[in-house]
Amino acid sequence: MTVSSNSVYARRRAELARQIGPGGIAVVPTASEQQRNRDSDFLFRHDSYFYYLCGFTEPKAWLVITGDGHTTLFCQPKDLEREIWDGLRLGPEAAPPALGVDAAFSVTELDTRLPGLLDGCQTVWYPFAIHPGLESRMDGWLGSLRTRVRYGTLCPQQQHDLCAVLDEMRLVKDTHEQAIMRRAAQISARAHIRAMQRSARMLRAGQEVREYHLDAELLHEFRQCGSQYPAYGSIVAAGANACVLHYRADAGLVRDGELVLIDAACELDGYASDITRTFPANGSFTGPQRTLYELVLASQDAAVAATKAGARFTDPHDATVKVLAQGMLDVGLLDKNKAGTLDDVIENRSYFPFYMHRTGHWLGMDVHDCGAYTEPSEIGQVSTRKDALTGDIIRNRPARILRAGMALTIEPGIYVRPSANVPEQFHNIGIRIEDDALVTDSGCELITRDVPVQVAEIEALMR
Ligand code: GLY
Ligand code: MN
Ligand code: MN
Repeated sequence: MTVSSNSVYARRRAELARQIGPGGIAVVPTASEQQRNRDSDFLFRHDSYFYYLCGFTEPKAWLVITGDGHTTLFCQPKDLEREIWDGLRLGPEAAPPALGVDAAFSVTELDTRLPGLLDGCQTVWYPFAIHPGLESRMDGWLGSLRTRVRYGTLCPQQQHDLCAVLDEMRLVKDTHEQAIMRRAAQISARAHIRAMQRSARMLRAGQEVREYHLDAELLHEFRQCGSQYPAYGSIVAAGANACVLHYRADAGLVRDGELVLIDAACELDGYASDITRTFPANGSFTGPQRTLYELVLASQDAAVAATKAGARFTDPHDATVKVLAQGMLDVGLLDKNKAGTLDDVIENRSYFPFYMHRTGHWLGMDVHDCGAYTEPSEIGQVSTRKDALTGDIIRNRPARILRAGMALTIEPGIYVRPSANVPEQFHNIGIRIEDDALVTDSGCELITRDVPVQVAEIEALMR
């Protein structure tokens, strides 16, 4: 951890303190460790809110920030025996100079010290509904404060969801975050290229290719470039497996003549990237594959053009759907005689069997990052509509207005399961193209394009 990155965290804590104001106090735990099976834990991953405010990655740690900006860290105490088994701990003595916090104590003192820190504050802020048991621990701390009111303690009267404040802060990425996200995206792009090339090379050599061979290439490049781990469970889906949206890299055979869909990307220094590419296993698209691929790509172009400051979060999705729906009519995935016009297809959502997900999501420390998808200033403007497919009454609120510095994915797709109503040449083709965009005032910056999307470029790099 460097002094300059400490100043980034100090700035964020100061902004949080300003927002919770005098009389406010924020309590922020990191994630808890999770057992995988007997004597084995899942690899520890810090809590994103906690990390955002201090950059500290050890487990069993808490931050307490008061409205005047004073920050107390509770962390694991130094313990030679535990450190021999589990690794070095920073410890409370070294924490203030290392992290720029004002005070630090052993986490074993949390229960005894926290009531004293809460005493006299009016409002306590902590993340709601994220850390199981936190609400009852808070009850315990407040309860112990209440038992001492006759001695003059003052119990906070209000509890607020800390996520409401931090989600808004995290939604707009500062320059420090944008720089890390660009690096994460570049590493992930290299990993995709590596997997594409391995697929074509092995098939040309007459070798058997399995999904896990390509997954291994991704992991190699992530770690080789210093990423800590994949940002989410990698999808490496050969052939028909691409039509299963949450398929995971498994042992499926990668067949000559079929497509491979890879949705995989790394996390770097706490920030996710998120890339999908779909490519021909042997390096050359067939006619029907190319037809659908070009359609998805055109729909992504339309979504990219709709991504700019001032536009709504839903604009890229609406632009995608328009292109995809027209394309489905043109190529015969939808029968014009039955589905009607483009407007009918959109109105009736008859594109849905082939495109059943949204075109993007916020991206940041979490791959599906935090942040409201509705515009806070228009939250009261509720309208209702009847969903054409389900008949459900949907409550709509105006979608979020994009601002420079927001980060989102743009990921249209088409998935064709075999069906008598659909031309056979398209059966079992699943295609998604996903890039990561930083919103700018005039448009957006695609930070994942070190791995190409054009048919000719993909074929060239696989040759
Ligand atoms: N890889 C997760 C997603 O694309 O949303
Ligand atoms: Mn995504
Ligand atoms: Mn993805």
